[in-house]
Amino acid sequence: MAEDEELLDLVLAGPPHAHQPNVLLAAVHYLVLSGLEHPLASVYARGRATADAPAKFRDLCLTHRGELLELITTRRTQTNECGRSAVLALGLAVAADRLGEPLGLLDAGASAGLNLLIDEYRLDYGPHGALGPAHSPVVVECAIRTPALRLPPRLPLFSRRLGLDRSPVDVTKADDVRWLLACVWPDTGRLPRTAAAIDLARRHRPPVVAGDMVTDLRGVLGTFSPDTAVAVVTSWAYAYLSPDGRRQFVEILMDEGRRRPIAWVSAEGPGVVELFDPPPPPAGEGTNPSVLGLALFEGSAPDAEALALVHPHGTWLDWRGAMTVPA
Ligand SMILES: C[S@@+](CC[C@H](N)C(=O)[O-])C[C@H]1O[C@@H](n2cnc3c(N)ncnc32)[C@H](O)[C@@H]1O
Repeated sequence: MAEDEELLDLVLAGPPHAHQPNVLLAAVHYLVLSGLEHPLASVYARGRATADAPAKFRDLCLTHRGELLELITTRRTQTNECGRSAVLALGLAVAADRLGEPLGLLDAGASAGLNLLIDEYRLDYGPHGALGPAHSPVVVECAIRTPALRLPPRLPLFSRRLGLDRSPVDVTKADDVRWLLACVWPDTGRLPRTAAAIDLARRHRPPVVAGDMVTDLRGVLGTFSPDTAVAVVTSWAYAYLSPDGRRQFVEILMDEGRRRPIAWVSAEGPGVVELFDPPPPPAGEGTNPSVLGLALFEGSAPDAEALALVHPHGTWLDWRGAMTVPA
């Protein structure tokens, strides 16, 4: 695409927020999921690239330019990856061990709120064990790369859970759901699991309020009972904030931490959370690993630590923290 003038023209005809590969890729996937009859559909259905896939992709883009332009103009990348629950669970377990239970749970940048359903999923850590209901329709597999790591016996208890997002996905709206699915890459095998998680969300309706995770953060935290510690989760969401937004976000958590204990469980790209240095990735690592971190705000300077290197979709976890998971 980067070398194709006609495809670049299509992208540049959209607004600046569309000038990233994910937006056009999702728009094409959206048309395919809408039932468009085009040879690319069979490539996506197979979930595996073929030698002629790029030519089919290009043909679809040029023959459906108008619909794609409309989509990239009106939609933004919107992902919600329930696989991340497997890594967030361990960060939340350490937070509960340090701050007590039950915890209030606030997912900032929650999208459709799929990770608020963390204790509805079967989190399968292979030989290390599993957490969550054995017969859940959503099974999240996460390979633990740290042989000595012991899992907690269960997930923490949550007194209340809430999501905050500037554009929450309404799981009852077919178009929104299709866009959410379109943002999942078709060749990763994550599509059926996301669809099953969306089905669960339709039944459980995890509450997600519309708002900004900086300017509305204080107000939303104020709706949690002052008697409970609150775990604020950001997963691949804090990264979207400007440097000033990030600074304000941390200041608000510090301020709130003077009223009651706050834990910030973050899963973000390396170096995004400046409170701790990311651990070095193992040599030869293909995917640039993200970092699971925990920062505790209890009235003084935050006690922050990188707990683990993690795959951005939660498929593996390599524990690096001194804070141990309560076994
Ligand atoms: C990459 S998605 C990640 C969603 C979810 N946390 C996950 O891990 O699956 C980023 C989310 O952050 C939200 N977001 C970005 N900036 C935001 C802001 N300033 N306030 C609230 N939400 C924001 C987006 O709407 C989007 O739903």
